[in-house]
Amino acid sequence: MKFFIDTANLNEIKEANDMGILDGVTTNPSLMAKEGITGAQNILNHYVAICNIVDGPVSAEVIATDFEGMVKEGEQLAALHKNIVVKIPMIPEGIKAIKYFSGKGIKTNCTLIFSAGQALLAAKAGATYISPFLGRLDDVSTDGLALIEQIRTIYDNYVFQTEILAASVRHPMHIIHCAEIGADVMTGPLNAIKALAKHPLTDLGLQQFLADYAKGNQ
Ligand code: G3P
Repeated sequence: MKFFIDTANLNEIKEANDMGILDGVTTNPSLMAKEGITGAQNILNHYVAICNIVDGPVSAEVIATDFEGMVKEGEQLAALHKNIVVKIPMIPEGIKAIKYFSGKGIKTNCTLIFSAGQALLAAKAGATYISPFLGRLDDVSTDGLALIEQIRTIYDNYVFQTEILAASVRHPMHIIHCAEIGADVMTGPLNAIKALAKHPLTDLGLQQFLADYAKGNQ
């Protein structure tokens, strides 16, 4: 399973990249705003800064919601760097735009996926990735992981090449369950990724090893 980090924070991206396990980055307009990145040119510059840190796919979201607008913005984003993936919302105009970009060989990430039907449509349009928001489904008492499982079955039935990018991941157990189900990619916050490494027995064991070494080497 590929690991993407879901943030626009350059320090967090650097930290995850330095761990050597980072495969890519996802952003969205809310994450950009959270970092105080505003204004079209600053946003474009920020995408380039992210691409200069990580050698992997970087999702950059369009703001337009009409076909022509999405095509114009998406082409501008794709021209920024070879690793940019154009992120497009799951709306009817978005499906058209995904089909357009797929014909042009431009990679897309269809975002705001909340149902299997939406995932099927995006795959048929040729999306490179689809982003089912599992945490947000959990938030409304709906099983987000069950959706990932359902999409995995559908994509496997027809050998769709579209990758399932589990998004809105909130904690380490989400990541582990996504790996069990066979999501192709997960995108989550740095703290969820780092939490995978933590175990109290590891800490205790290391403490003991170091103490025993110190006793024997005084
Ligand atoms: O990748 C989508 C993500 O940014 C949404 O996460 O935690 O706001 O639901 P969250």
